[in-house]
Amino acid sequence: MGKTKLDLDGRTVLVTGSPGFIGANLVMKLLRTMGSGTVVSMDDMNGYYDPKLKEYRLGLIERAAEGSPVRHVFVKADIADAEKVSAVFARYRPSIVVHLAAQAGVRYSIENPAAYIASNIGGTFNVLEACRRYPAEHLVFASSSSVYGADAKIPFSTDDKCDSPVSLYAATKKSCELMAHSYSKLYDVPATGLRFFTVYGPAGRPDMFYFSAAEKLISGGKIRIFNHGRCMRDFTFVGDTVEGIMRIMRLAPEKNKGADGLPVPPFAVYNIGAGRPTDLMEFARTLHGEMISAGLLPEGDSLEEHIELVGMQPGDVPVTYADCAEFERVTGFRPQTSVRDGLRAFVGWYKEYLGK
Ligand SMILES: NC(=O)c1ccc[n+]([C@@H]2O[C@H](COP(=O)([O-])OP(=O)(O)OC[C@H]3O[C@@H](n4cnc5c(N)ncnc54)[C@H](O)[C@@H]3O)[C@@H](O)[C@H]2O)c1
Repeated sequence: MGKTKLDLDGRTVLVTGSPGFIGANLVMKLLRTMGSGTVVSMDDMNGYYDPKLKEYRLGLIERAAEGSPVRHVFVKADIADAEKVSAVFARYRPSIVVHLAAQAGVRYSIENPAAYIASNIGGTFNVLEACRRYPAEHLVFASSSSVYGADAKIPFSTDDKCDSPVSLYAATKKSCELMAHSYSKLYDVPATGLRFFTVYGPAGRPDMFYFSAAEKLISGGKIRIFNHGRCMRDFTFVGDTVEGIMRIMRLAPEKNKGADGLPVPPFAVYNIGAGRPTDLMEFARTLHGEMISAGLLPEGDSLEEHIELVGMQPGDVPVTYADCAEFERVTGFRPQTSVRDGLRAFVGWYKEYLGK
């Protein structure tokens, strides 16, 4: 599929789910790199994890906006509220929409499935409807490696069938891809889905392994390693994920008509991961070592004393591993940050955040 190149300068970009983790990092980079234009952040600041972290990230965004030629606007609103979403589109007429807002997390989808249906299905439907009514040049939306399920061949390729989700979270993410595909076909909305792979980094998400492991290492709690240690994740540093999103934002799938005179769906899906799965135990060892080097843990601290090996969790998968060849071919970009460098950046931030 051909691409229509978009220049971000001078445009209005709407980022839903900013100041969430990935959204905040994306917006800060947009504010640093766009020469002009407007960035609108939209988030309901819900309490799935400590909203103070979202306030903190919003503060970072506001600081980045102070020195930027780009205007930043924050709208506090729930994407499950169709009228609010429509009002934001009507007011700002975004030409590029990056839809990241979602109820994230695999395990919480067992506890509170309704939140996933409201935000991921209902919210994404509202964003799609708004992109139809106020035509956007490109909708980029977050999908997830979880759509591949537990039995996929590795590495995971976007050419592979993935219709056996093992969590409701994964089912909603796959549904978002299907809904976006139908809107691109019916209404010629150029849309690109990005399947993210375990994104980590500074100011990350406290519900994710690296963050909760760091908290437990400091508090003396136990880090649970799933599947008795036989667990691998394609950990991707947030800076690499954001660079990948920015490159994709500029490449909208081309609009074309088929022989029947109807749109050929301007739609694409890519994996965006490091393409290097790391054993969870090895990841914990690197995190632990970096925390000792940063002075957050004493020299001689033993990782083994903090580890508890447990079985597989419902909804979890043993391995994630991205085949990013197509993404690299299209964008010319391959994530470069090693797990050690990425975790060093996280630990450096965490130390500062704790005020130590
Ligand atoms: N971080 C990862 O490893 C990862 C992996 C795969 C997919 N993803 C997807 O990437 C996107 C961003 O994830 P993240 O890690 O930044 O998560 P995050 O939870 O930090 O960010 C999501 C943001 O969306 C907001 N939000 C949720 N429901 C909303 C609603 N109804 N209305 C308005 N705002 C709402 C939240 O308040 C939050 O700030 C999500 O769609 C997530 O499913 C993330």
